Amino acid sequence: MAVKKIKEGIYFVGALHWDRRLFDELIPLPDGTSYNSYLIHGENKTALIDTVDPTTIDQLFVNLKKFKINKIDYVIANHAEQDHSGGIPFILKEYSEAKVVTNEKCKDMLMDLLLIPEDKFIVVKENEKIELGGKTLQFFMIPWVHWPETMATYLIEDKILFPCDFFGSHIATSAIFDQEHFYIPAKRYYAEIMSPFRNNVRNNLEKVKKLDVEIIAPSHGIIYKNPKVIMDAYAEWASENVKNEAIIAFVSMHDSTKKMAEYLREALVERGINVHYFNLTVTDIGELAMTLIDAATLILGAPTVLAGIHPLGAYAAYLANALRPKTKFASLITSYGWGEKASEVLKGLLINFKGEILQPVTAKGFPKENDFKQLDRLADDIYNKHKEIGLF
Ligand code: FEO
Repeated sequence: MAVKKIKEGIYFVGALHWDRRLFDELIPLPDGTSYNSYLIHGENKTALIDTVDPTTIDQLFVNLKKFKINKIDYVIANHAEQDHSGGIPFILKEYSEAKVVTNEKCKDMLMDLLLIPEDKFIVVKENEKIELGGKTLQFFMIPWVHWPETMATYLIEDKILFPCDFFGSHIATSAIFDQEHFYIPAKRYYAEIMSPFRNNVRNNLEKVKKLDVEIIAPSHGIIYKNPKVIMDAYAEWASENVKNEAIIAFVSMHDSTKKMAEYLREALVERGINVHYFNLTVTDIGELAMTLIDAATLILGAPTVLAGIHPLGAYAAYLANALRPKTKFASLITSYGWGEKASEVLKGLLINFKGEILQPVTAKGFPKENDFKQLDRLADDIYNKHKEIGLF
């Protein structure tokens, strides 16, 4: 994408990856993504904040060439993951005087991941500053959003925070200042990347709130000229608050588990509980992850197959476990032909789940009258639990 001016001497020079559809070979990218790199011109020195994924390095060079600069003094590496750092070796080759500015932990990771020689680094600590001439960069450690080495760079005179992944969103858009449509891409990004670390998110949020920030310029997606909107959204997502919502995520081979899922869905709706309903054969896991930010209850449904659980059910349970959601209640609905194993395996997969597991419902074959009674009982249990924690 073309260079975009943010303020005098401060430019977006990053890359849009419009047609990327998967991140980490795992996370769906329905809207593509961007790797936001920023060029800062001081009176004496020039700095580049984060680079781009190496697959898009040409876009970064095209943008840098527009400035006709023959020297970059500092490449600030806020985060070692290669979608931001992968362009650093290319920059060091083109601008041989450049030094990589980062913290000790990130330096070690960049040496491991990208084989950058140690003498190329300038190591900075918490609060340390680098002067560019009329523009001062200050560094703050913001660990575990979502790697342990992440830091944020604050441009003091212009009150701009560059927090890398923190406050990012996976979206490729030329409207990088669009404050109207940020919410869903930012929430999806938070759910997929940040949500397992919500304690750290809260701590880091408090830290950056103490700064006088007028613009938040993350290294993915939208740039915020009204930082409050994304800070408030993060405060809510990272809180322990849940809503009167239940997720039913199921897979069914011969419609038995599906019938149970449908019945439970309607029973919950009748009781005034909002339901997110996912057939795991077609579900975008980002959508499922987003609902885990708010829902008070998670119901997983899967049949027994191959003497265990259907693999899609196991995948959903593994994912939910890894995301460590604040969900307060969980349960299982399963069906089986001759030997029931699914509920046992599912429970074993939810080892990180700190809430209460409500009594599962298991049907032998297609659900029958007693199974539907059990599903009504489960719906009542969920209703009562939601009431106990004040959701009604
Ligand atoms: Fe956008 Fe953790 O890299």
